[in-house]
Formats: sequence, structure tokens, C-alpha cells
Amino acid sequence: MTNLGVKFAGLDCSSPIWTASGTFGYGAEFDRFLDLRALGGIVTKGISPKPRAGNPLPRICETAAGMINSIGLENVGVDGFAQNKLPFLRKCGTNVVVNFFGETIDEYVACGAALDALDGVDALEMNVSCPNIKKGGVEFGTESNVLRDLVRACRAAIKKPLLIKLTPNCTDVVSISRAAIESGADGLSVVNTISAMAIDARRRRPRIATIFGGLSGPAIKPVALRMVFEVHRALPDVPISGIGGIQSGEDVVEFLLAGASTVQVGTQNFAEPSAAARIGEELKQFLSEEKIDDVNELIGGLKIK
Ligand code: SIN
Repeated sequence: MTNLGVKFAGLDCSSPIWTASGTFGYGAEFDRFLDLRALGGIVTKGISPKPRAGNPLPRICETAAGMINSIGLENVGVDGFAQNKLPFLRKCGTNVVVNFFGETIDEYVACGAALDALDGVDALEMNVSCPNIKKGGVEFGTESNVLRDLVRACRAAIKKPLLIKLTPNCTDVVSISRAAIESGADGLSVVNTISAMAIDARRRRPRIATIFGGLSGPAIKPVALRMVFEVHRALPDVPISGIGGIQSGEDVVEFLLAGASTVQVGTQNFAEPSAAARIGEELKQFLSEEKIDDVNELIGGLKIK
């Protein structure tokens, strides 16, 4: 019997494969496409204190080997989530990780604390790619000192496992990771989308209404792998959930070798809603072909000498 189970920041996961925030709705939308119990976890769309309508259209466009989105963090808000989304998630048979954010530190704390108190929420993932209104719109996750204040304040209000979803739009992902962990985070999700733009040459216009958006998909996989590896090498005991263009079982293995102990399937869910299940089967096949009886053997197993 091959063991696919991993432990991650206090969570028992039946598989290292999770689905990524913003690509899997609130879970129920995908129930008819795959057996959610086969997943190690679901990460919900980011939740804010109040509901948000998001950005004007167009807010998604395809690119070579990926896509750009600027959804604008549309979501149902904490109360809408608790009343209308969580009842399904409580019974879905896998870990429920709730992504959350705010526009100020106080909003982050209020949102995180409210979600932490909800039965059925197993862990929280903090999105730090949001503009810090008090600092002129710079992302919270790009400056170590800002991130320290934010994580410390949230940690004091949150008892459940707290993950920080890092932005790749920073100069030194290791310093940012260290700041998050030293301030009380239990693990890291590495990484969110890369700031990008696309242009329609005929119309001479940006393809996204807000001009800039976040690039995801296989186009960013090598960048994400590099960041996972760098963070793992500097902080080997920190649980990392790897994200960035995962499309196959072998992609999962690459992230595990780089140091992730779980991974999140994201952009592929838009093209193939059952992708996470197929990728799980491919991972099992890989382990069987390589005669590996425990997936944990792969974690951090990259040979560099
Ligand atoms: C969005 O809703 O605009 C995307 C959120 C994110 O990438 O953090």
C-alpha cells in the first residue's frame, strides 16, 4: 500500500494535493466533477470582512502557457461565507483552508478572528498580495517590516493553523518568509500570481480592464519552483504548500522534491475541473513506477550534488 498522507502545519492530509484559492470557488461548484474526499484540502476564494463585487470586465485573459486575472477579490464576505458556503464545506470530507484578507491590519485581524471561530474551518491562509491602503497601495507582502506587523497582529487573534500565501512580486522571498515565520505563521503557500499585463495589438488596448493582473499557469512554474526551493533551503522545517502551474503528477513530484509538503492545483481547474483528481492518480502511478511506498520520501529530496 502506497502512503499518500502528509502532515502539514498540524493538518492531517490524505493526499498532498490541495486546490488553490480563487480557482475552486467555495468547493461546492466542483462537487459534480470529482470526489472532493480524494483531495488533501480545499482552499476557498479569499474572504474579506464584507462582500466585494470585484473589478470591471474584462478581468481574465489567456496568455501563452497561462492566464492573467484581475478579479478584484470578489467574494461573499465573512457572514455570507459562514451562512451559505460553510455548511457544504463542513461535510465535504477534506481539510477546509479559508483564504482571507483585508485592506488594513485591523480588517485582516477582524476577518481572521471571525473565520477562526467558525466550526468547520480547519486552517487559514492569509493573502498578503493585497494593496495596503495606508501605504499607498503597496502589497502587504512585499516589505518584511509591514508583513511582520500584519502577521503578528493576526497570529494573536487566530488559534488555528495560519499559513501566509507569499507574493512573488518581491525582491527577496527568503527574507519575507523569515519575517512571516518569526511573527508566528505556521506555514507558507509559495506563490501567488506574478504581476503582468497583456495587450491587444489591433485595438491598442490592455486586455484586462485594470491594465495589470496576476499571471498564473505553467508559464510561472519554474519561478514558483525556484522560490519553493529557496525558501525550503533557508527554512527547512517550515511547511510549504507549493503553487504555480501544476498540471500533472510529475509537476507535483517536482514541487515535493523542491521542498513543498503539499501543493495546490490552480489554473488547470479552469480548463479541466476534475484536474486535481487526475493529477492525484498520476502521482500514485509515479510512486508505483518508482517503487516509492511513502510520498513523504520525496519531500525536500532534490539531489544537488
Ligand atoms: C483577485 O481576486 O484579483 C486575485 C487575488 C489574488 O491573486 O490574490
